[in-house]
Amino acid sequence: MIGGSGFYSFLDDVKEVRVDTPFGPPSDPIAVGELHGRRVAFVPRHGRDHRFPPHRIPYRANLWALRSLGVRQVLAPSAVGSLVAEHGPGTLTVPDQLVDRTSGRPQTFYEEGAAIHVPFSDPYCPVGRRTALTAAQAQDWEPVDGGTLVVIEGPRFSTRAESRWFADQGWTLVGMTGHPEAVLARELALCYTPLCLVTDLDAGIEEGEGVTMQEVLAVFAGNVDRLRGVVAEVIRTLPADRSCPCPTVLDGLEPPLTLP
Ligand code: ADE
Repeated sequence: MIGGSGFYSFLDDVKEVRVDTPFGPPSDPIAVGELHGRRVAFVPRHGRDHRFPPHRIPYRANLWALRSLGVRQVLAPSAVGSLVAEHGPGTLTVPDQLVDRTSGRPQTFYEEGAAIHVPFSDPYCPVGRRTALTAAQAQDWEPVDGGTLVVIEGPRFSTRAESRWFADQGWTLVGMTGHPEAVLARELALCYTPLCLVTDLDAGIEEGEGVTMQEVLAVFAGNVDRLRGVVAEVIRTLPADRSCPCPTVLDGLEPPLTLP
């Protein structure tokens, strides 16, 4: 799991593991523990003390480190803004598409040697998505099924004009961390499932003050217990055998790095 620091407390028998990777250290040591009898590794995306803003998160190191510990299915809760007036703060969405509006973030492991082009038309694990939707319903939190997450470079929020433009494209959510996290997971043949908690209506959607960090943090804090509940239910119910296409995306290709 890659998420905010609100997720530390929820694993049992936690051990902190320091991992180094060819891409440097992850955001922080990885907490490895148990939940519902399953082994779970957790990395706090922004670091324990929130020292990494979205554009400086060591995304490659985080994914590499998780895989090297045996992780094969990644759950990725995050805070997002909504581009749809009806899906206000407190909405849980499991998007099915992504648009990259970031710039300058390393977004591949395969920089040298053979070129590797992974399929990314459907960026998220279909089985993970289905499990997440069912888990949210089981926790009485009716989720929004699908939608397009546009990932901006940040760290600033969007202007009203940018936000209106995103909404006019039919995109439904805006965040800062979903890319390159999802594609790096795909490049390591990992399953990746986003769980997007709407913390605000983005600037183009409602007149008023626009988005503030205070608002985002307050809404996240108010919903983190519920979100933990859903993540725990996903961990309990996620099928162990991976019948999705994610494990085979590198079959027949020769990645210039040996995967951990
Ligand atoms: N994260 C939470 N709210 C956001 C917003 N409105 N834009 C980008 N990232 C966000």
